[in-house]
Amino acid sequence: MSRTSDVLVVGGGIIGLVTAWRAAQRGLRTALADPEPGGGAAQVAAGMLAAVTELHYGEQTLLGLNLASAHRYPDFAAELTELTGHDLGYRRSGTLAVALDADDRAHLRELHALQRQSGLESTWLSGRDCRRLEPMLAPGVRGGLRVDGDHQIDPRRLAAALLTACERAGVVLHRGWAERLTVVRDRATGVLTRDGDALTAERVVLAAGSLSGRLAGVPDAVLPPVRPVKGQVLRLTVPPRYAPFLSRTVRAMVRGSHVYLVPRENGELVVGATSEELGWDTTVTAGGVYELLRDAHELMPGITELPLTETRAGLRPGSPDNAPLLGPTAVDGLLLATGHYRNGVLLTPVTGDAMAHVLTTGELPEVARPFTPQRFTQTPALMEQPA
Ligand code: GLY
Repeated sequence: MSRTSDVLVVGGGIIGLVTAWRAAQRGLRTALADPEPGGGAAQVAAGMLAAVTELHYGEQTLLGLNLASAHRYPDFAAELTELTGHDLGYRRSGTLAVALDADDRAHLRELHALQRQSGLESTWLSGRDCRRLEPMLAPGVRGGLRVDGDHQIDPRRLAAALLTACERAGVVLHRGWAERLTVVRDRATGVLTRDGDALTAERVVLAAGSLSGRLAGVPDAVLPPVRPVKGQVLRLTVPPRYAPFLSRTVRAMVRGSHVYLVPRENGELVVGATSEELGWDTTVTAGGVYELLRDAHELMPGITELPLTETRAGLRPGSPDNAPLLGPTAVDGLLLATGHYRNGVLLTPVTGDAMAHVLTTGELPEVARPFTPQRFTQTPALMEQPA
C-alpha cells in the first residue's frame, strides 16, 4: 500500500469521504486515514436537507451555501447511486414545521417572514390544513409552514455509498488513527498514525468532524475552532399496519426545544435531536430520551404505540459562526473541510465540489469563499489589542 499521495484526507465521515472521492475523480492520487471510514456523525444524523426550515437570523451567508448544496442534491444522489448501486433513501416529500402554542406560533410567523425576505418558498397553513396533510398530528396544532423544497436522505446509506465510491475511484484507505500532523519547514507533509506509520502527501485535508481541533502538531494559529455539540436521536419503527404514519418530515419548536420526526420509506421514523454542550460525552441519557419522546408525543400522540428500536448520540462539529471551514489555512499544504455543525449532510455535495476545486486549482470557488478558515485566523493586530 502506497504511503505517499497528492492528497491525504484525515477523517472518513461523509465530509472526508466526499472530499476524497471528488479529488480522486479529478485525477489526484488520494488517500484517507480513519480507523472506521464511513462512521462518524452520519451514523446518528436524521438526514434532513433543511436549508429553508433551519434558516436562522444572522445566517444568510450560510443560507447561500446551503441552497447551493440543496440544488446539487438530485444530480449528486443520482450520480452516486448509478456509480455504486446504493439507494440513498433520497426522498423529496417535503417538510412541515408546526406550532403547538401561541409562543411557538409567533416564532414560526417570524421564521416565515425571514424566509420570505430571503426569497424562499414556504406556505403558511392553518392548524386544520396541517392536519389534513398529516392526520396523525395532535389536534392542538396551531398552524404551520409547508416547505416542499426541504427533502431528506438516509445518512447511513450516504456514508456507505461514498465509501464504495472512494474504493472504486482508487482512494487508498488507511484504517488507523492519524495522531500527529507532520510539518517540515512550515509546510504540512502528512501525518503519523497511532501505529507509527508515516503517511506523506503534497496536501493534507483535515476533515475529522468534531475531532478536527484535536490533531496534534497543528500550529495553534490554524487549529480549527471546532467543538462537539451532542445530539441524542431515537429511531422508531412504523409497522406496516400503521403506514403511512407520516408522509413528510414534521418538525416543531416545543417550549424552545427543536424536535423533528423524519419518516423513511422503509418504515424507520427518526426522532431528534437534543443539542448539548457537554464535551466528548456520547451517553444516551434517560433525560434526553424523555424530552424527545415527551415533545414528539405532544406533536404526534400516536408515536407511543411504535416500537423504539434504537437510541444513539453523536457529536456535531460546531464552529463559532455555525458555518463550515473550507479550504487552505495559513500553513502551506494544510486545508480544512470541517465545522459543518447542523448541516453536514446537506452540505456534502457542495463541500466535495469546493474541495476538489481548490485542490486542483488552488482557489476556492466563489460559493465557498466566505467560508475560508482564514476568517478565524488571529492577526497580530487583534492579538495586541489591550484588554
Ligand atoms: N440538522 C439537525 C440537527 O443538527 O439536529
